[in-house]
Amino acid sequence: MAEELILKKGTREEQYLEIIPQIAALIDGEPDLIANLANICAALKQQFDWLWTGFYLVKDNELVLGPFQGPIACTRIKKGRGVCGTAWEQMETIIVQDVNKFPGHITCSSLSKSEIVLPIIRQNEVVAVLDIDHTMYAGFDKTDELFLSEIISLIHF
Ligand code: SME
Repeated sequence: MAEELILKKGTREEQYLEIIPQIAALIDGEPDLIANLANICAALKQQFDWLWTGFYLVKDNELVLGPFQGPIACTRIKKGRGVCGTAWEQMETIIVQDVNKFPGHITCSSLSKSEIVLPIIRQNEVVAVLDIDHTMYAGFDKTDELFLSEIISLIHF
């Protein structure tokens, strides 16, 4: 494993293309899920410095807070609640351009203005979600969905 990440300036696509192989190398051969999720959050934080980047894990039919980088966050989210619980229920990525316009959005930080949540699906079940919050409106689009999907496909659950 490289001791330091090589961080890239440029378009978001260029940044993803630089960071993804490094994330793959970082978690390659490491079987511990929490260690890998923690390092993925840290790598994404270092590269993109989003407000909040983290995972919620499905445990006993609830989403429970996992490794993250950013301000403290709510610990449990029920299926169908908030953006995270909705992405879980619908088994689909949700991109929210303005969190004020998402009915039922759960506010963890008043600084959060937009959000992307990707469900992580294994054997047709959601096992976790990746949730990222941005301080700007419309902070995420299909480019993020594409590359973040690639990152979560690397994780062994
Ligand atoms: N906003 C999320 C809650 C989690 S925090 O953003 C970290 C939601 O509505 O599900």
